Amino acid sequence: MASIWTRKSTADLLQEAARSEGDADTPPFKRSLSALQLVTLGIGGIIGAGIFVLTGHAAAANAGPAVTLSFLLGAVACGFAGLCYAEMSSTVPVCGSAYTYAYATLGEFIAWIIGWDLILEYAVGAIAVSVGWSGYFVSFARDFGINLPQHFTSAPLAYDVSSGNWSRTGAIVNIPAMAIIVFVTTLLVIGIRESAQFNGFIVAVKLTVIALFLGSALSSVTLANWVTPSNPEGALIPPNAGVGVYGWSGVVRGAAVVFFAYIGFDAISTAAQEAKAPERDMPIGILGSLVICAALYVAVGFVLTGIVPFDRLNVADPIAVGIDAIGIGWLGPFIKLGILFGLTSVILVMLLAQPRIFRAMAHDGLLPPFAAKIHPRFRTPHVSTIITGTIVTIFAGLLPIGLVGELVSIGTLFAFTVVSMGTLALRVSDPLLPRPFRAPAIWLVAPAGAATSLFLMFGLPLDTWIRLAVWLAVGLVIYAVYGVRHSRLRATGRG
Ligand code: ALA
Repeated sequence: MASIWTRKSTADLLQEAARSEGDADTPPFKRSLSALQLVTLGIGGIIGAGIFVLTGHAAAANAGPAVTLSFLLGAVACGFAGLCYAEMSSTVPVCGSAYTYAYATLGEFIAWIIGWDLILEYAVGAIAVSVGWSGYFVSFARDFGINLPQHFTSAPLAYDVSSGNWSRTGAIVNIPAMAIIVFVTTLLVIGIRESAQFNGFIVAVKLTVIALFLGSALSSVTLANWVTPSNPEGALIPPNAGVGVYGWSGVVRGAAVVFFAYIGFDAISTAAQEAKAPERDMPIGILGSLVICAALYVAVGFVLTGIVPFDRLNVADPIAVGIDAIGIGWLGPFIKLGILFGLTSVILVMLLAQPRIFRAMAHDGLLPPFAAKIHPRFRTPHVSTIITGTIVTIFAGLLPIGLVGELVSIGTLFAFTVVSMGTLALRVSDPLLPRPFRAPAIWLVAPAGAATSLFLMFGLPLDTWIRLAVWLAVGLVIYAVYGVRHSRLRATGRG
């Protein structure tokens, strides 16, 4: 009899991947995504609020011009985890991502914890980005003289991340945040190919906006902007002024802040069963999108701090401040429109990933069977997509962004830690398993992936850790009440 620690055998997982899980009740996913579409999906999921909003804060408060180094550090941390995700997604190309990998490597109990934890990354991530979307939407409308009522464009409560205090905003509900979730959910129910095509269009707009910004600002970059009262010598790393404020500790804290900007590359691993050739294309999608985004982030960090003194960047729209500073403010509305599109694709990828994880968990009996249903015509997991969309819509209307942002980061870092260690565990337990993509120097890469993720987690406040613990405790209760009794693996000995 299987215990809660039993691993799903890789042979069963490979069989699952091969038949794409079609049966009378659940027709198979449509295998329609190419390598290019996977890279595009990755970029769609990665570039968003992190670069368009958080860069300014990380530069002003933590790293100064060395925010470029923070981005590099974030890329290295994600690179280790990314190599592990790439190996796992080519070896076990089943749709559950970190959840499935944990099932195959560390057993059902850890898999459940990770599946539950991933809700923080994807569903809560979609809430965070939809609130950011709403902010840009209000500002975009204002550029055209339309003042949307504050009562219906923000959450009723605000949360201050640094003090942990709550306050009333006087608002009732955030309607734009809810509307964008409803729109994206509808698209996702209709089809993965349609969603990927829409995402491709958005990614083109988003990359154009970034290229426009870099192209028009590059000639105005001057290192004279590095000289500020807090950086009188104009050094790349301003002198340290307390833990996490400038100096090397500021660079590290900055990396923890901009880590949010990299979240999303792992989401494409949830679409493994919809890829035409997952063994080859999943690593291309994961690593390709990560490398492209890292290069763009470093370039944006360098250019932005080269055109505006970094202490003026602590604003919600640092890119707009940048273009104002070089006298091309008329580009503002276009850039905001591009950013709105950009945030839409992040929401799209997150809301694409979440139901696919629910579906994998339901398929294994850890969630009720209706969450595994695939629509007979659209061939998307429509029930779990609609349930996710509905819950996310409600919370998007009510929650403040400060609260949800850090929860997303801690949840994601936790998943990265487990996937990194799981990849190493599978190398040890199943050394002969065919691995179309092998992460190099696994004894270095996997521990480094786990260690860097844990390191960044320790940079997050205690409150966030407590919320993670409470969330996981709720998950354990649900597992004890439902999952333990209905697990397919434990009932049949097979996944
Ligand atoms: N990486 C995503 C963003 O920055 C979550 O919006």
